[in-house]
Amino acid sequence: MLDGKKILMIIGGGIAAYKSLDLIRQLRAQGALVTVILTGAASRFISPLSVASLSGQKVHSELFSDNAEAEIGHIALSRSADLVLVVPMTADLMAKTAQGHADDLASTVLLASDKPIMAAPSMNARMWEHPSTQRNLSLLKSDGVLIVGPEIGNTACGEHGRGRLAEISEITHSIIMYFGAHDVASAPECSLSGKSVLITAGPTYEPIDTVRYIANRSSGKQGYAIADAARLAGAQVTLISGPTTLTPPAGVNIIRVETAEQMYNEVIKSLPADIFVACAAVADWRVEAPVLGKVKKSKDGPPKLKLIENPDILASVGKHRSRPKLVVGFAAETENVVLNAKEKIKKKGCDIIIANDVSVTSGVMGGDENAVHVVGKTAVDSWPKIPKDLVAERLIKLFAKMLRREEK
Ligand code: PMT
Repeated sequence: MLDGKKILMIIGGGIAAYKSLDLIRQLRAQGALVTVILTGAASRFISPLSVASLSGQKVHSELFSDNAEAEIGHIALSRSADLVLVVPMTADLMAKTAQGHADDLASTVLLASDKPIMAAPSMNARMWEHPSTQRNLSLLKSDGVLIVGPEIGNTACGEHGRGRLAEISEITHSIIMYFGAHDVASAPECSLSGKSVLITAGPTYEPIDTVRYIANRSSGKQGYAIADAARLAGAQVTLISGPTTLTPPAGVNIIRVETAEQMYNEVIKSLPADIFVACAAVADWRVEAPVLGKVKKSKDGPPKLKLIENPDILASVGKHRSRPKLVVGFAAETENVVLNAKEKIKKKGCDIIIANDVSVTSGVMGGDENAVHVVGKTAVDSWPKIPKDLVAERLIKLFAKMLRREEK
């Protein structure tokens, strides 16, 4: 899937550097040509010889190397790549890149690069959370650097938190998706370049008291996959997410919320957009008066919960004065899937509904695959069960075509 793609991989000096060896193997197995720059610190974790053997290429590490300057030079290194990949991106390398330092080969290449840069950070959780690292992260994102991870987990230093390098399979997948969508985006009819896409994903949590809430089984996977595919097709993406354990796709503006009301407020604030996709499993009802503190058991029996209706986000966007040109709803049904979805198109004022069966046996809610029915105002197209990221890719191609028709 990466046949002939030229990847310039910069390996930073962190304990996760050893994982980059597996990444080189995986990228080459996909057909990529991988050239590696090892920072001085990285060569203390892994040997240049292992990297050279796995990549099948000469390893670069010196800024001022007579040979390299004569043969290609540090600028040419990045010019000949399709993608510059930094794995692991250490806190130090993040700071240098964000500030534009150029005091070694890695930082000089990053500064001199005119190619897209993807980075997978990895560091101690406190370092990741530090305001200066978060500031550097924002700078890198606004400079267009695609960030993959980090994930929550145990780090090598024995602490727990966000800072662990994203799984190698996840980084490989991001690269494949990047090139896939890049190729798609370059097909003019599928590109969303210059368009803004607003997406909701995941469940909402509706509090009963300070410690308890009403929720549902949505994992956010389908919505996050759509956000990823939209960004890779060149769109500017805002993802408004209920609580999930997922790492947001690189390069997406993520807004985290808990309740339906918060999601509603953030969606309305984020308008206008060219496309709105309502993939979140929003709670229809909330407890009218959540209790402050923990409700105690009492001899009077269980508390009686009075539920009231939540705002309908999709219906509100469907009739908003800044209504996006394309409004996409989802329908989660356990019976009469297509019939109920058709009703929802009318009720919610959307242009198209993506209907899916969420009965327990379908395994769709929380699972990795989905079988959707694309329900338009006149026609229905039923797709086979496929991974959610492929559903997302196909949907994004469809949305791009629909948007183009709308704009004619
Ligand atoms: O998250 P995953 O585990 O990957 O699972 C994906 C999914 C099954 C959650 C997803 O594919 C899906 O079906 N999402 C919509 C879930 C839902 O709430 O469906 P609904 O039929 O109840 O609502 C219809 C539409 O109205 C949806 O677009 C929903 O986002 C929207 N809605 C509902 C209620 C509300 N108060 N505001 C809304 O915007």
